[in-house]
Amino acid sequence: MPRDATPRRYLMCAPTHFRVTYSINPWMDPSKPVDLRLARTQWEDLRDRYRSLGHTVEELTPLPGLPDMVFAANGATVIDGRVLGAMFAHRERHAEAAAHREWFRSHGYGEFHEPAHVNEGEGDFAVTASFVLAGTGFRSSPLAHDEAQEFFGRPVIGLHLVDPRYYHLDTALCVLDDAADEIMYYPDAFSPGSRSVLARLFPDALIARKPDAAALGLNAVGDGLHVLLPQGATGLFGPLRDRGFEPVPMDLSELLKGGGSVKCCTQELRGA
Ligand code: ARG
Repeated sequence: MPRDATPRRYLMCAPTHFRVTYSINPWMDPSKPVDLRLARTQWEDLRDRYRSLGHTVEELTPLPGLPDMVFAANGATVIDGRVLGAMFAHRERHAEAAAHREWFRSHGYGEFHEPAHVNEGEGDFAVTASFVLAGTGFRSSPLAHDEAQEFFGRPVIGLHLVDPRYYHLDTALCVLDDAADEIMYYPDAFSPGSRSVLARLFPDALIARKPDAAALGLNAVGDGLHVLLPQGATGLFGPLRDRGFEPVPMDLSELLKGGGSVKCCTQELRGA
C-alpha cells in the first residue's frame, strides 16, 4: 500500500532539567546516573528529525524542579484544535499541567477544558480515524475517558493496562496511521477483555513481540509514512516496512531511564 506523510505540529520540551530523582514507574532507578548532555543531544536529534521530515515543532519552556517535563505528551490532548488539559496522578508532576495550560492560553487556543479527573494526556489517549483509545489501570482514571468523550464528541474506547512496565497506553500501543485505523500494540500489556476489544476493532493490527515492547518500541510516532521509534525495537522494522512504512530508529537511551521515549517526548497539536 502506498503511504503518504502529512505535515504535523508537535509540542516538545527540552530536557534541560531532566533527572531521575524519584521513581513512579519501574523504569526509573534514581541510583542510575543520567548523562544530561547526551540526553540533550538525543532529544535535539529527535526534534531536528521531525523538522527535517517537514513537521513543525513548538517548544515549551522547561521549568526547574519538574524533571519529567521533557515527557510533553502527558501535558494535554489536542484534537480539532480543542484542548483537554491534563491532571497528573503523581504529586511530583502536578505542576506540569499548569505549564501546558499556560502555553495553550498564550498560543491562541480558545477552547481549553480543565479536567475534573486524572488523565495524563497523550500518555493514555491515542487518536485513530474512528476512535480515541484510552488507557487506564496505572495513571488515567476511567472517569477521564467519559470526560474526553463528552468534550471531544468522539467515541472513546477504554482499555485496561495490567503490566506496570507498560503504565501508559503509549508504552503499549501506537497509532501508525491516524487517517485510517491502523495501530500496533503489545497484547500482553492489556487485560483479556481489552485484548478482545483490540482484536475486534483492529483485526489487521501489527502485533508487537515481547523484546520490542521491552525496548519501548511501541512508544513511537507515525506521520502516515515514517514511524520514529526507539532503535532497540529492531523486530518491528521489517513488519513496518512490509506494510509500507519507513521505520526511523532513534536513540533516546537517556530518556529511557525516565521510562519514556519518542512518543512520550512528543505531543501532537491536531488542528481544526
Ligand atoms: N517518568 C515519567 C512518568 O513516569 C515518564 C512519562 C513517559 N511519558 C509517556 N507518555 N509515557 O510519568
